[in-house]
Amino acid sequence: MRIVLLGGDGIGPEVMAESAKVLRALIPGIELAEHPLGAAAIESDGDPLPPATLAACLASDGVLMGAVGSDAYAWSARNPEDGMFELRRQLDVYANLRPFHAPGVDLMIVRELIGGLYFGARGTRPDGTVFDTCEYHPDQVRRIVRKGFELARARGGRLTSVDKANVLATSRLWRSTAVELAREFPDVALDHLLVDTAAMKLVQDPTQFDVIVTENTFGDILSDVAAAIAGGLGEAASACLTDDGPGLFEPVHGTAPDIAGKGIANPTAMIRSTAMLLEHGLGLPLQAGRLDDALDRAIATTATPDRGGAATTAELGDAVLAQLERTEVGDVL
Ligand code: NAD
Ligand code: IPM
Ligand code: MN
Repeated sequence: MRIVLLGGDGIGPEVMAESAKVLRALIPGIELAEHPLGAAAIESDGDPLPPATLAACLASDGVLMGAVGSDAYAWSARNPEDGMFELRRQLDVYANLRPFHAPGVDLMIVRELIGGLYFGARGTRPDGTVFDTCEYHPDQVRRIVRKGFELARARGGRLTSVDKANVLATSRLWRSTAVELAREFPDVALDHLLVDTAAMKLVQDPTQFDVIVTENTFGDILSDVAAAIAGGLGEAASACLTDDGPGLFEPVHGTAPDIAGKGIANPTAMIRSTAMLLEHGLGLPLQAGRLDDALDRAIATTATPDRGGAATTAELGDAVLAQLERTEVGDVL
C-alpha cells in the first residue's frame, strides 16, 4: 500500500507527523511517501502543486493532506490554495464527506468539492468590476446528490438538500435534481432547506439532521458551523472521494497560523481523517474502527489546549499509540 503524505503548511506537518506514527503502528511495512504542497512547495519547487507531487498522488492508494495556506503567498497569482484546488480537481474528488459527532448528533455533510464558485470563471471587466461565477453542469449535480442519497440510505434514511433556490439558478438545478433522484430512493426521506435557514437550524438543534448534501461554498461554511457544535475545528475530519481512484483525506481546519510552530495543535482531525483513509481509501474498516476507538479513549484523558487541556500534539499522538497497543490486530481482523 502506497500512501502519499502532504503535510503542507503551518500546523499541517505537525499533525501529519502523528498520522504517520499511527499508520506505521497499524500497518507495519506501509509505504509512506512525503511530498510538498502549498507554500512549502512554492518554496521548494516554485509551484504549489509540483508535477512530482501530483504524479505521486495519482499513482497512490490514497493521499493524506494536512493543510495549506500562508499569509506570505496569499495574494500570489498561484497561491498555496490554488495548488490544493488543482490537486482536488486532478483527483476528481467531487464528494467531500464531513462527519460530525456530539451527544445526540450524528451528522454527515456531503459537500460538492470541485465545482461552483471555486472553479467558475472569474476576472475583472474593463470598468473595474470584479466577478466570480457559480456554475454547475447537471451531471456534476447529479453525481453528488446521488452520493447524498446513497449515504442517507446506508445511515438514518434522511437527506436534507441545502440550496438557495429562491435566488440562484444553480440552486434551482440542484433542487430539481434532488426531486428527480428521490424517485430512485423511495426509502430515503428528502427535504429541502435554504442555506441561511440551514445555518440557523444547525446551531439551534443539530440533532435533527442525518445527511446534508450541498454545493461547494455552502458546504464549506456549514461545515465550520457544524465543527463548532462538535468539538471544534481540531476534531473535524473529512474524506474527499471520487468514483474510481485514490481519495484525498484531510482535516476541515486550516494551517492555524496563530498556533503554528508551538507543537500544541490538536491532531484529532488529522487522525480521524486517517481512519477515513483506512475505511474509504484502503478498504480496511476494521482497522479504521480500531483507530477510531483508540482515538476516542485517548481524547477522553488527554486534551490539547483547544479542548481545555495542556497536552502537546505529540503527547496526544502518543496516547493514541498507547491505546492502539492495547488491542491486537487479531482482535479485529
Ligand atoms: P484555521 O482553520 O486555520 O484556524 C481557525 C481557528 O481554529 C484558529 O484559531 C486555529 O488556531 C484553530 N484551529 C484550527 N485547527 C486547529 C487544530 N488542529 N488544533 C487547534 N486549534 C485549531 O482557519 P483560518 O485561520 O481562517 O485559515 C488559516 C489558513 O489556512 C488560510 O491560509 C486558509 O486558506 C487555510 N486553510 C486551509 C485549509 C486546507 O488546507 N484544507 C482549510 C481551511 C483553511
Ligand atoms: C476547506 C478550506 C478550503 C476550502 C480553503 C482553504 C480554500 O476552507 O477545505 O474547508 O474552502 O475548500
Ligand atoms: Mn473550510
